[in-house]
Amino acid sequence: MTPLPPLPLLGSGKVRDIFDAGDGNLLMVTSDRISAFDVVMGEPIPDKGRCLTAMTAFWVDQLTDVAPNHIVSVDPADFPEAASGIEEVAGRTMLVRRADMVNIECIVRGYLSGSAWKEYRSQGTVHGEAVPPGLTESDQLPEPLFTPSTKGESGHDENISFDRACELVGAEVAAAARDISLACYARGSKWAGERGIILADTKFELGFIDGVLSICDEVLTPDSSRFWSASDWRPGTTPPSFDKQPVRDWLEGTGWDKSPPPPQLPSEVVESTRQRYVSAYERITGRSFSQWYGVQWYGVDRQEPEQT
Ligand SMILES: Nc1ncnc2c1ncn2[C@@H]1O[C@H](COP(=O)(O)OP(=O)(O)OP(=O)(O)O)[C@@H](O)[C@H]1O
Ligand SMILES: [Mg+2]
Repeated sequence: MTPLPPLPLLGSGKVRDIFDAGDGNLLMVTSDRISAFDVVMGEPIPDKGRCLTAMTAFWVDQLTDVAPNHIVSVDPADFPEAASGIEEVAGRTMLVRRADMVNIECIVRGYLSGSAWKEYRSQGTVHGEAVPPGLTESDQLPEPLFTPSTKGESGHDENISFDRACELVGAEVAAAARDISLACYARGSKWAGERGIILADTKFELGFIDGVLSICDEVLTPDSSRFWSASDWRPGTTPPSFDKQPVRDWLEGTGWDKSPPPPQLPSEVVESTRQRYVSAYERITGRSFSQWYGVQWYGVDRQEPEQT
């Protein structure tokens, strides 16, 4: 259990605990919890929260010319005093500007997978929009599509059309959110593609900070995105997930019926999943995870990060 900072807790999601850091800022602490088949496992994946945080920090730096973002700092030295000294918090925590969140999930899809494939297979559309016929699962779409969804309570998001998004948040905001999301996807998928990784789809959450539409939440992480190894991609199949595959494969092998409680993950599965998250970070960013805040790697204490 991660010791949490003694600040007012504003909310806990499936993955993050959010604290009021004062001055219009939030402290977002990302846990090591992992879900598979929509069920949260009993065992955390050590350092998963740090991997997600390190990736988000990397990406927002890459995207500064596309849109502003919510991050104030990921350096524990900049956190409010109540949080700066807690070792467990280091590396998994972002001090961010509190945003007025846009009430849709800004999904971009470059490939046909997941709920979009299901809809296409049964109705020939993707989020209600026309898409050419004759595509198969995991095919690349003719061009990346902005495919928003509602933000459902308890994780039941509903795929919606762009017109419906305009009704929900206003046409101007929806169009601006679409343009930022498509530009971020283009940048992310090009970067990943050059490293042998396909960014099949991803979800952004945007919000207004001082009246300016900004990138919030986590950015282009394995939790918010479908990453595939280009070498595993075969249209007509479901490529293995870059990060959660050891957990999924092991669970499938147990015959578990996918309703809670889940079986207890063996330590080898926990460790191999941790390795997948670390290698996803290192492959994508070209940085060493051992340099990240708070990481104790095989007993070696953290060195100063290469870049902040
Ligand atoms: N800068 C910000 N200001 C205000 N709220 C934010 C900001 N960045 C992210 N959020 C919100 O913080 C929450 C992050 O928590 P978390 O990811 O754990 O929960 P969730 O997204 O509701 O659930 P899940 O990710 O498990 O589906 C989200 O509701 C997100 O919209
Ligand atoms: Mg979330």
